[in-house]
Amino acid sequence: MFQVKPVAAERLPELLRRMPKAELHIHIEGSLEPELIFALAQRNGVPLAYASVEALRSAYAFSNLQSFLDIYYAGASVLLKEQDFYDMAQAYLRKAAQDNVVHAELFFDPQTHTARGVSMATVINGLHRACVDAQAELGVSASLILCFLRHLSEEDAFATLEEALPFRDKFIGIGLDSGEVGNPPEKFARVFARCRELGFHLVAHAGEEGPPAYVWTALDVLKVERIDHGVQSIQDAALMRRLAQDSIPLTVCPLSNLKLRVFPDLASHNLGQLLAAGLVATVNSDDPAYFGGYVNENFTQTFAATGLTAQHAYTLARNSFEASFIDDAAKRRHIDRLNESFETFA
Ligand code: HPA
Ligand code: ZN
Repeated sequence: MFQVKPVAAERLPELLRRMPKAELHIHIEGSLEPELIFALAQRNGVPLAYASVEALRSAYAFSNLQSFLDIYYAGASVLLKEQDFYDMAQAYLRKAAQDNVVHAELFFDPQTHTARGVSMATVINGLHRACVDAQAELGVSASLILCFLRHLSEEDAFATLEEALPFRDKFIGIGLDSGEVGNPPEKFARVFARCRELGFHLVAHAGEEGPPAYVWTALDVLKVERIDHGVQSIQDAALMRRLAQDSIPLTVCPLSNLKLRVFPDLASHNLGQLLAAGLVATVNSDDPAYFGGYVNENFTQTFAATGLTAQHAYTLARNSFEASFIDDAAKRRHIDRLNESFETFA
């Protein structure tokens, strides 16, 4: 096992920023900064309910997941053309590269766009082109995960899958997001079974606001490989043992949890407890334009509030590669670089 040298508390932020990492839980529509929303609104002639960038940003005060989703879906209404999707993803990937993200798996919500008359081709081709260009421009590998909106029906998810299948070589997995409580994973049992047959990687949001029971059914009914959020698992000791035994990664998003009031403050976040229980937890930004920070901000604020150490930093970065859907050779390369970055940090 790799030996992590102790690092003084005041040097930790620099270590956290510098270490190479993967980001596995980022909704690309949640990376739309107010400035880009206004620029795209103007370019496309889409009216906005806010007079200025500042007015829009000041509306970003949320009381729970649904209060955020209402504003998030409204923000996405400025996306109409393939170039808009490209510009959004390119802006995120450039920010990610500055945070030393070397691999990213991006969620996208096609139903948010197809419901407005935007074609599946427009959405996927724009996002995919940005992922391809990121490798050449930034040295960042990026892939796409198509999410079904769980507040809509399973029938709607099936229709979305059909529409997306002509582009199946442009996304690697299927996820499940939007309003969790009242929309349990098992609502999507048949469509996830179909996606599994088709060979997609499977993930689902569960245990963000919803109960541990939703994490169980995400695992046992949907047969997902990772759980997005999953922080409520801590209420169920048998579930914690299952997650640890099967090395099921949790893609944790501390600033999202703070802004959506899943925890009253970052000091109360359970990331340290999840790691202590042997879970493969990772740190991610979720919707960085809305929640006050990209991945490095999630790391530095959470470490400052909770007293996590360089050893935790190493484990979290390593987990991000282990939990990713890249091949074993690429994982090995990234982990070698991670080890080097810790060895040479002085
Ligand atoms: N939870 C559920 N749905 C979402 C989220 C989230 O944190 N972000 C974007 N869609
Ligand atoms: Zn999310």
